[in-house]
Amino acid sequence: MSEAPQTVKLEVEDGLAVITIDRPDKLNALNAETIAQLGRAVASVAPDDSVRGVIVTGAGPKAFVAGADIGELARMGPITGIRVSRQGQDVFRGLERLGKPVIGAVNGFALGGGCELALACHLRIASTNARFGLPEVKLGIIPGYGGTVRLPRLVGRGRALEMILTGEMIDAAEAHRIGLVNRVVDPGSLMDAARTLARTIMANGPIAIALALEAVDRAAATSIEDALVLESDLFGLLAATDDMREGMNAFLDKRPPRFAAR
Ligand code: COA
Repeated sequence: MSEAPQTVKLEVEDGLAVITIDRPDKLNALNAETIAQLGRAVASVAPDDSVRGVIVTGAGPKAFVAGADIGELARMGPITGIRVSRQGQDVFRGLERLGKPVIGAVNGFALGGGCELALACHLRIASTNARFGLPEVKLGIIPGYGGTVRLPRLVGRGRALEMILTGEMIDAAEAHRIGLVNRVVDPGSLMDAARTLARTIMANGPIAIALALEAVDRAAATSIEDALVLESDLFGLLAATDDMREGMNAFLDKRPPRFAAR
C-alpha cells in the first residue's frame, strides 16, 4: 500500500469501472503520485475480464483535471521533463489501449494534461460547465501528454493549432461544435449519461468491441492498404468466436444476445 494520499479512486459497478481523479482542492491537478496511481488503476482494470467498460471523471463540481501539477513542473530540468512527459504518455496510452471502451465524463475544467486525459478516452461527454484548453504555451512549455498528437487527429490540424498556439479555453458548446466531445449534458445528468453510453456499448460483443478499438487505433498509424488488410483479418477472426454465432442467432431468433466473450 502506498503511504501517499489516495488521489485516484477506482470503483467497479456491475462490470463498469469508474476512475475518479480525486484531488479537488487542487482542481484534480495531476501530480506525479496521481499519475502513478492512475497507471495502477489502469493496470488493475486491464486484465480483469469482468470489467467491460470504464468511465474517467474528476471529483468535485469544478474540475475534471486542471492539468499537470504546475508546482511540480516548475522544478523540472530537461531530463526530468522528458521522463515526466513519457510517464504521463505511457499511462494515457495504457488507457487508450485497454481494449475496453473508455468514456471521459468531463465535469468542469479539462486543461493541459486534463484535456489530454480526455483526449485519451475513446468518447467524451461534457457537462455544460466544462472548459477545455491546452494552456501550456502560457507557461512556456508545450502539451506533453499526447495533446499535439491526439487533438489534431480528433478535430483537425487548424482547430488543434488554434487551441495549442493560443492556449485559450473553449466552452462545452464549442468543444461539441468542433467534435472534441460527443455530447453535452447538464452537470446533474453527466454521470448517468456516461453510464448509459457505457452500458449501451457493454451490451455488444466484448471481443468485437475490443477489435473495433484495435482496428481504429492501428488504422491511425498505418497506410490505408495495411489498415484495410488488418480490418479484414480482424473481421475474419471474429467469425471464429462463439459471440458471432450468438449475435447472429439472437437476431434471427428475435431475442437479445447473451455474449460470453468467447
Ligand atoms: N497545478 C497545480 N495546482 C493547480 C493547478 C495545476 N495545474 N490548477 C489549479 N491548481 C490549484 C491552485 O493553485 C489552487 O490551489 P491553492 O488553493 O492551494 O492556491 C487550487 O487549485 C484552486 O485553483 P484556483 O486557481 O484558485 O481556481 P480558480 O477558479 O481561480 O481558477 C483555473 C481555475 C483552472 C482557471 C486555474 O486554476 C488555472 O488556470 N489552473 C492552471 C491551468 C493550467 O495551466 N493547466 C496546465 C498545466 S500544464
